[in-house]
Amino acid sequence: MEQVWESEDLCVLKGVPFRYRNSDYGSLRTTADQVVILKPRTFFEQYRQLPLSPVKRILEVGVFEGGSALLLADIFPDAKIVGIDIRPADPSVRWHIANMGYGDRIKLYSGVSQDDKAQVEAILEKEFGGEPIDLVIDDASHMYGFTTRCFDIVFPRLRVGGCYVIEDWGWANWPGYKAPDFFFEDRQPLATMILELAMATASNYGAIRELTVTFGMARLVKGGELPPLRRDGQRQRARSLDRIPATAATVGRGRFRAAAPSARRSCRRSP
Ligand SMILES: C[S@@+](CC[C@H](N)C(=O)[O-])C[C@H]1O[C@@H](n2cnc3c(N)ncnc32)[C@H](O)[C@@H]1O
Repeated sequence: MEQVWESEDLCVLKGVPFRYRNSDYGSLRTTADQVVILKPRTFFEQYRQLPLSPVKRILEVGVFEGGSALLLADIFPDAKIVGIDIRPADPSVRWHIANMGYGDRIKLYSGVSQDDKAQVEAILEKEFGGEPIDLVIDDASHMYGFTTRCFDIVFPRLRVGGCYVIEDWGWANWPGYKAPDFFFEDRQPLATMILELAMATASNYGAIRELTVTFGMARLVKGGELPPLRRDGQRQRARSLDRIPATAATVGRGRFRAAAPSARRSCRRSP
């Protein structure tokens, strides 16, 4: 790993400064002289420490100005990183990718919504050739509908033991959420999805082996087997996940639909 963090806001990789920003997003651009990142240093440290080996295929959903894709390429030297974003990447992002020697390993796709099943599946097929993904990082819309639909498209392509991370899932509970100009103010909390994933962890036959929730990340590890014992005490034959018809999120939503409104209400801060 070559990246050096000189402070919490500044990382240097191959002589290029990477600047972390957590506000004023509209005016930030990667230029020939700098790369912009929207993830703090602690997130990259958490990615570096993931108990995942080998990491050969990463999907980043929400690329913004390309900073995190470049730093992930440094953290995971054997990985190909495919990034999708609904907006176009600045040409200087592609210039840095080529200039740092990552042209073969980072592939960015613009104009792709995270919930466009046909487009996302075509990209994954083209870049990964049907091979399972080791790590998915969803840092895109942070909206419930887009994020759950994306999960339903991508989760079946995650390898058993692979990680699916949803960043900044808890915005509805952040201080300032109630401000009338907060950009997600009238949206359904993304936290609802995390509660559903917790319920699906219990209900969907081991599809989710582990769900870890911290301030900035919800990280799940994909499981691959049914639990060893059935309710009648008989040993159950292990089955591969692809013979379970629905994904974890779908099962969570269907089975616990009645619980969702109260879960949503409990996500909101008290007035
Ligand atoms: C928080 S930024 C990503 C930051 C980047 N991962 C980083 O750490 O530097 C969110 C990005 O998601 C993109 N986005 C928003 N809605 C999206 C959608 N429905 N599908 C795909 N990308 C979306 C935005 O265009 C924006 O570039």
